[in-house]
Amino acid sequence: MKIAVAGTGYVGLVAGVCFAEVGHDVICVDIDEDKIKSMKKGISPIYENDLQDLMVKNYSEGRLNYTTDFKSAYKDADAVFIGVGTPEQLDGSANLSHIATVARQIAECVEKDCLVVVKSTVPVGTNDKVEQFIHDFLINKVKVEVASNPEFLAQGSAVHDTLQAPRIIIGTESKWAEKILMKIYEPFKLPVVSVNRRSAEMIKYASNDFLALKISYMNDIANLCELVGADIQAVANGMSYDDRIGNKFLNAGIGYGGSCFPKDTKALEYLAKQHGYDLRTVKATIDVNNDQKTILFKKASKRLITFNGLKIAVLGLTFKPGTDDLRESPTLDNIPLLLEQGADIYAYDPVGADNFKRLYPEGKNGNGTITYVNDPKEALESANVCFIFTEWDQIKAVKTTDYKKLMRSPLVYDGRNIYDLKDMLKAEVEYYSVGR
Ligand code: UDX
Repeated sequence: MKIAVAGTGYVGLVAGVCFAEVGHDVICVDIDEDKIKSMKKGISPIYENDLQDLMVKNYSEGRLNYTTDFKSAYKDADAVFIGVGTPEQLDGSANLSHIATVARQIAECVEKDCLVVVKSTVPVGTNDKVEQFIHDFLINKVKVEVASNPEFLAQGSAVHDTLQAPRIIIGTESKWAEKILMKIYEPFKLPVVSVNRRSAEMIKYASNDFLALKISYMNDIANLCELVGADIQAVANGMSYDDRIGNKFLNAGIGYGGSCFPKDTKALEYLAKQHGYDLRTVKATIDVNNDQKTILFKKASKRLITFNGLKIAVLGLTFKPGTDDLRESPTLDNIPLLLEQGADIYAYDPVGADNFKRLYPEGKNGNGTITYVNDPKEALESANVCFIFTEWDQIKAVKTTDYKKLMRSPLVYDGRNIYDLKDMLKAEVEYYSVGR
C-alpha cells in the first residue's frame, strides 16, 4: 500500500521504516530540509538500534523515500500516518498545533479516498476533532476518515518494539477504516486489537501511566524499605514471581524520565481535571517521581557540608541507557543543584555527552564547572563524590575496587542500584543506593 508518514521523529520515522521493511511503499515527510537530505544519504537523525541499517536497506531497495514536498506525498496516499510531536505545554496539556498543521495540509492535498491515522499520543477525543477539522478544510470530493493507532515503542528498542510488538492497537469508527489498517498491519503477523477511536487513545495513556505508576510505586516502597531495613531488590524479586504483578518495571531508582512517561502522566491528569475528575493515582505517580529524582542529592547534602570546590564524578547523563535523549533525565534536576553549590563536575556518558554540552557547555557553568570525559575512570580520578545516574554497560563495567583505587574519598551515590551492597562494603566504598 502507498503510505505517507508525517514527521520523522521517533514515532514517525520508526513507523515509516518498519512499514517499508514489511513491503509497503512509504514516503516520509518532514519540514526540515537538512534532515531530509541527510536521511537520503542514509543518516538517521536519531540514535536508535537497527534504524539506520533499515533506512539504508529500504531506501536503496526503493520502498522508502523522504521529502519536504507534502503535497506530492499526500495526494495519492492510501493512508497518511501522523507522527508529529505533541509537546507538553506549561499547564501539562498537550500542544496539538503540529497535528492541526498536518491535518490541514492533508485536507488541502488529498485527491483520492484516504485514511488518516494518528500515531502521535493525543488526548482522548482529539481524533474526532482532527476528522472534523479535515472535513472542514477538504477541497476535493473524496472520503477521508481518521483512525487512531498509538505506538508503544521504547527508545533504544523502537524498531524491535514495532516489528515485534506484543499487540497493535487500532481505533476506528467504520469497517472501511478498520479494513485498511488490518491490511497495512497484515504483513507484521502480530495480534491486532481493534477498538473504537476513543478507547484506542485511552489505551495509550492508560498503558504508559500504568507503567509510570508501577515505577513510582516501587520507588515509594523503596523509600520505606530504607526506613524499615528491607532491601527493595529482594522485595521486587519476591513480588516478581506473581504473574499478576509481572517481573518488569519493578526497578527502584531515581525516577522515570524520557519523552513519554512524564508528559503522558501530566496530560492524563490534565484531561481528568478538565472533566472535573481528580485522578489521584496518576497525581501520586507524578509527585513521587518529582521527589525521587533528587533523592540522592538530598542524601548526599546531609552527609556533606557543601559540594563547593569538590570534584564530583557524574556517571550517566541520559534518562536511560541505549539512547542519547536527555528529556526529563534526572541529571537535568541534579546538575543545576550541584553547580549552584560550586561543584566541579566530571561527567561521563557514552552517547549523551554531546547533547548535554549544548545545555551545559564545557567549562564554567554558574558557580561550578563541567568537564566532559571519555572514560568513567577519568571521571573518578581523585573525585570526592560519585553520582551514578544511568546504568550504561560501560558504567556497570567499573569494578567496585576502582572506586576505592581512583577516588580521593570513595563516596558513591548510585541511583540505579548497580552494585551489590556486600561487594561495595568489601571494596571499602561508602555506598548509598535506593531502597537498600
Ligand atoms: C516508554 C514506554 O516503555 C513505551 O512503551 C512508550 O511508548 C514510551 O515510553 P521509554 O520512555 O523509551 O518508553 O523508556 P522506558 O524504557 O519505558 O523507561 C522509562 C523510564 O523509566 C526511564 O527513565 C527508566 O530509567 C525508568 N524505569 C524503567 C525505572 O526507573 N524502573 C524500571 O523498572 C523501568
